[in-house]
Amino acid sequence: MTPAVPKAELHCHIEGAASPALVRTQALKYGVDISGFITGDSYVWSDFTGFLAAYDGAAGLFRTEEDYAELAETYLRGIAEEGAIYAEIFVSPDHAKAAGLSTEGYFRGLAEGIARARGQCGIECRMILVGIRHLGAEAVEAAARLAASRPHRLISGFGMAGEERFGRVADYRRAFDIARDAGLGITIHAGELCGAGSVRDALDVVRPTRIGHGVRSIEDPALVRRIAGEGVVLELCPGSNVALKVFASMAEHPFDLLLRQGVKVTLNSDDPPHFQSSIGREYDAAAKTWGYDARQLIGITRTAVMAAFVDEPTREKLL
Ligand code: ADE
Ligand code: ZN
Repeated sequence: MTPAVPKAELHCHIEGAASPALVRTQALKYGVDISGFITGDSYVWSDFTGFLAAYDGAAGLFRTEEDYAELAETYLRGIAEEGAIYAEIFVSPDHAKAAGLSTEGYFRGLAEGIARARGQCGIECRMILVGIRHLGAEAVEAAARLAASRPHRLISGFGMAGEERFGRVADYRRAFDIARDAGLGITIHAGELCGAGSVRDALDVVRPTRIGHGVRSIEDPALVRRIAGEGVVLELCPGSNVALKVFASMAEHPFDLLLRQGVKVTLNSDDPPHFQSSIGREYDAAAKTWGYDARQLIGITRTAVMAAFVDEPTREKLL
């Protein structure tokens, strides 16, 4: 482990960061059977659809402000121990609503957890409000309107997660226009389950400064040149990609190929306990697989901090 290397992650879904142990505690508290998606100390799923079902099952067990405060605090304290100095978490009010928690309570709880972790470890955190693609364009637009209303000072960006194979990027154009016009940072999941065309559409329609994954751009050399040329930052999640079988192994993951072609790449955990990932493990695996030394790893952190949706004084402090 490399806790001495300062790390930053831009791509972690807070509901996907709940450990099976914490979810088990929640399940006992609320009297819910979790045997369909947790066995022993592991999540159980076999493909992306199954993963999303397990993710939704876990999210449904966080029902109060304090549940979310504990989840955010636990995640942030854990990564601070691995050397993280900054994290952006994807937050999904649609998941909170489905669990019976108000949007206000959701943000208050998360902010309380963020404040506790900051007080104990000094770690900085911002929230990126996401719409869920497979809930449809209207739901994503409602999420964008909510983000644009600036419901909490720690919400600094807007994004879209969920099933990439659902609908077309153009269906979500208005949502991203609303969020961009409100001055929010923009990122979108693309090029994870779908190929280079999905990334190209995302760039054309959404005009993001960052793309969640974007890893399958590697299938189109002209697109890689475009991403490098435009300085779009990829939130790469190698451990997640290997767990979801987008690539067969770390050795086959194109992180290093993209880096060498001038793409701004960052390392991220995505949904840590689902993929046996964590920001520390991603840095370690990158060092082991591609031979990066501390200077190169710090360069990746610097790329993340430069691309962070954060105020300039905080960015300066992190650099
Ligand atoms: N939501 C949580 N994790 C995700 C992923 N890897 N891709 C798309 N949506 C997600
Ligand atoms: Zn993701």
